[in-house]
Amino acid sequence: EKEGYQHFMIKEIHEQPKGVHETLMRRLDKDHNIVLDGIKLTKEDLEKINKVYIVACGTAYHAGLVGRYAIEKFAKIPVEVDVASEFRYRDPFVDENTLFIAVSQSGETLDTLAALREAKRKGARILSVVNVVGSSVARESHDVFYTWAGPEIAVASTKAYTTQLMAMYLIALNMASTKGTMSKEDYSKVVAELKTLPEKIEKILGDIDKIQHQADAQFSNESVFFMGRGLDVNVAHEGSLKLKEISYINSFAIAAGELKHGTIALIEDGTLVIALATQDHLYEKMLSNIQEVKARGAYVLAVAKEGNKEAEKTADVVMYIPDTTDELTPILSVIPLQLFAYFIAVARGCDVDKPKNLAKSVTVE
Ligand code: M6R
Repeated sequence: EKEGYQHFMIKEIHEQPKGVHETLMRRLDKDHNIVLDGIKLTKEDLEKINKVYIVACGTAYHAGLVGRYAIEKFAKIPVEVDVASEFRYRDPFVDENTLFIAVSQSGETLDTLAALREAKRKGARILSVVNVVGSSVARESHDVFYTWAGPEIAVASTKAYTTQLMAMYLIALNMASTKGTMSKEDYSKVVAELKTLPEKIEKILGDIDKIQHQADAQFSNESVFFMGRGLDVNVAHEGSLKLKEISYINSFAIAAGELKHGTIALIEDGTLVIALATQDHLYEKMLSNIQEVKARGAYVLAVAKEGNKEAEKTADVVMYIPDTTDELTPILSVIPLQLFAYFIAVARGCDVDKPKNLAKSVTVE
C-alpha cells in the first residue's frame, strides 16, 4: 500500500496537493461560491455568536492557531485557541453564544471529545473539522466539515494538517460571506488564490533533493530551534513537533521577538536555527532576528517566498516557497519542514512511521 514509497509519511506528504485540491474543490460551486454541506450555520446563528473557541491536540491544535487568524481576519469574530487537555479543565466562558470548533484527524482523540462534550453541555454550537467519516467527534457535532485527506497511516500528521488548514480558510471565508464582513472582490481574490495552492505544493515537492541534502548535512544535531513571527510562529511550532516526534531531536519553536527575552542565551557556534520569514509585513524584522542568531554563530536555514531574495544575504541556506498572500503561506511553508523532519529521521535510522512511545490516535488521557 505504500505504492513504491519507503514510508507512509513520505507517501502522505506527496498526497497533499490532491488532498488540498479535493478539500477545496468539493466545496466550490460553479460560480466559485463556497458551499459547506455539513454546516448549517445561518446568518442569524452567526449573528448570535460572539466568540469562537478552537480546541484540539498536537498538529490539529497547530491548524487551529492558523484558523484563529483566518476567522478573526475574514469573519471578524474573536477567537481563542486551546489544547483540549487544558480547555476541559479550566472552566472556560462558554455559553449558547459560543461556537466551539473541534479539529481532529481521527475524530477519536479523547481529550478533544471530552472538551467537545463539556462545551456542548454549556450550550455551545459544535462544529468539527474531522478526517475520519462517522468518527465520534463528527457524530457528536452539530456541524461537520470533512477534510478530504484520505486515510492517514503515519503517526506524524502531514496531509491531515494541510487539509485542516484549507478547511479553516473555507470556514472563515464562508462565515465572512454569510456575515458580510468581506467585500465580494476580496473574497473572490482569496478563493482564486486558494485554487493555486495544490500546484504550488507540487512545486515545493519538486525541490525535494535540495531539502534532503540539507537534512543529510544536519541530521546529527542534538537540538534545533524554530522561529518565526505572525503566522510563521504557528508553522514553526508544527515544524518543531514534526521533527521531535519522528527524529527524537530536542527541538522547540519560539516567536522570534522573544529571542532576546531568554532563548538567545542558548545560541552558540553551529546551533541550527530554522527561521520562517514568509510574512511580507514582518520580513525586515525577521531578517534582523536572523542576524542576531547568526552573530552568535548559529547556522540558519530560512524559509522565504520566492520573491523575497534578501534572506540569502543573512541566512546560510534559503528554502523557497512560491509566492502567495501572507494569510495563505502556512499551507506552503510547512512542506519543506515536513520533508526536513522526514529526511532527518531517515538519516538517523528512526522508525519514521511508528515513532517510539506514540500512537496514531490518542484515546486515553
Ligand atoms: O486525530 P487527532 O487530529 O485528534 O490527533 C491529534 C494529535 O494526537 C496528533 O496531531 C499528533 O500530535 C500527531 N502525531 C502529530 O504529528
